[in-house]
Amino acid sequence: LEGKELIDWAASRMAVLAGLLRRFETDRPLLGARIGACLHVTPETGVLLRVLTAGGAEVALAASNPLSTRDEVAEALVSDGVATFAHRGDDPTAVAANLDAVIDTSPLLTVDDGCDLLARLHLERRECLETVVAGTEDTTSGAIRLRSLAQSGGLAYPVLAVSGSQARLLADNRHGTAQSTIDGILRATNTLLAGSTVVVAGYGNCGHAVADVASGLGAQVVVTEIDPSRALAAMLDGYRVEPMDEACAHGDVFVTATGNRDVVRPEHMAAMRDGAVLANAGQFDLEIDVPGLEELAGGRRRRVRPMVDEYVIGDPGRPGAHRVLLLAEGRLVNLAAADGSPPQVMDVAFAVQALACEWLWANHDRLPLPVAVHEVPEEIDRAVARLKLETLGVRLDVMTESQASYLASWGRS
Ligand SMILES: NC(=O)c1ccc[n+]([C@@H]2O[C@H](COP(=O)([O-])OP(=O)(O)OC[C@H]3O[C@@H](n4cnc5c(N)ncnc54)[C@H](O)[C@@H]3O)[C@@H](O)[C@H]2O)c1
Repeated sequence: LEGKELIDWAASRMAVLAGLLRRFETDRPLLGARIGACLHVTPETGVLLRVLTAGGAEVALAASNPLSTRDEVAEALVSDGVATFAHRGDDPTAVAANLDAVIDTSPLLTVDDGCDLLARLHLERRECLETVVAGTEDTTSGAIRLRSLAQSGGLAYPVLAVSGSQARLLADNRHGTAQSTIDGILRATNTLLAGSTVVVAGYGNCGHAVADVASGLGAQVVVTEIDPSRALAAMLDGYRVEPMDEACAHGDVFVTATGNRDVVRPEHMAAMRDGAVLANAGQFDLEIDVPGLEELAGGRRRRVRPMVDEYVIGDPGRPGAHRVLLLAEGRLVNLAAADGSPPQVMDVAFAVQALACEWLWANHDRLPLPVAVHEVPEEIDRAVARLKLETLGVRLDVMTESQASYLASWGRS
């Protein structure tokens, strides 16, 4: 299919963005805004960019992950006038050059997914920082990087952490990531989850939902955690909680969703069952120690299916020798081996992005934000939840006057 058809298909399932597109075409709230974006180059991103450009923005795009890039989408965006710098499988040098090409357009707003554009601006292209007035960040790991930059005093412009929006967390991290992560694992391996043991590292928004979906398909789920509250939640939800040192020996499928590095390490891989599957749902390809796996296998690696690399650990034929199957080279499995969160989910996440850009552009000189990482204003969160419900035909109760006054009164009369 052509990229335009893929974007049209996604657009047909993104009713909130369709409504915003109509309003943006009339109101043109982003006139004059030059946006530098670093996002997954997917059909859903294409729909977001249609909304931003309809609002009057000029947009340049680089890919936030070379394995999730859909080349046909990139081509369609270029023909729609969006300067797009992305090819599937770009190496690190090309990725850096793509970010530079976006920075060369002198963005006034940045829209990031993983903080790579902002990081490049702050580390390598400081001369271009001055023109940037504000930015947004789409994902949890990017917001963690941002907060640590802000804490060290190094952040140069205010950023809205879209990743913290309740509507987005619920739709994307929770439902979209879980479904598409399991989808990616199944497409890549065609394995049966029923009766298998799935080890989920991290019981946050993503991990919790991955555990639920795997369990719903009949898997026994084991959770690994470092946070006592999250571990307690997993246990009370009915999952076994173990350290990775123990879980590694009896998992069939391992899914990392922690935002941390080296969660599955060579000592774990050395103890795994034959045929154990390793998949990462976290933002960066550091959660599974892939260089450590390469070293452990001493070069005995071969591609056995698209997106599946088999590593042989130990001497074949000798006791203890076994195979470990790494999916998507340790990158986001739901985007590399499947289509990522479905359009209905990205409808919510990207509506928050579009309204965040509108809000930043409307307010940046009237109401200068302190240079810090900010939560998305609650009004945006509620507006997106309301719009999504409207598109689904869901109606809410409205408080009576006496209910409103009861809740507002401290005396509870
Ligand atoms: N695949 C996608 O499409 C997608 C979508 C949204 C977010 N993400 C990414 O997924 C990751 C998780 O996001 P989230 O919103 O669930 O974050 P979260 O902060 O809610 O949860 C992460 C959990 O991992 C735990 N953790 C940290 N280090 C650990 C370790 N060494 N072992 C076990 N547990 C550990 C934390 O205690 C926390 O409970 C992030 O990298 C985020 O950017 C991916």
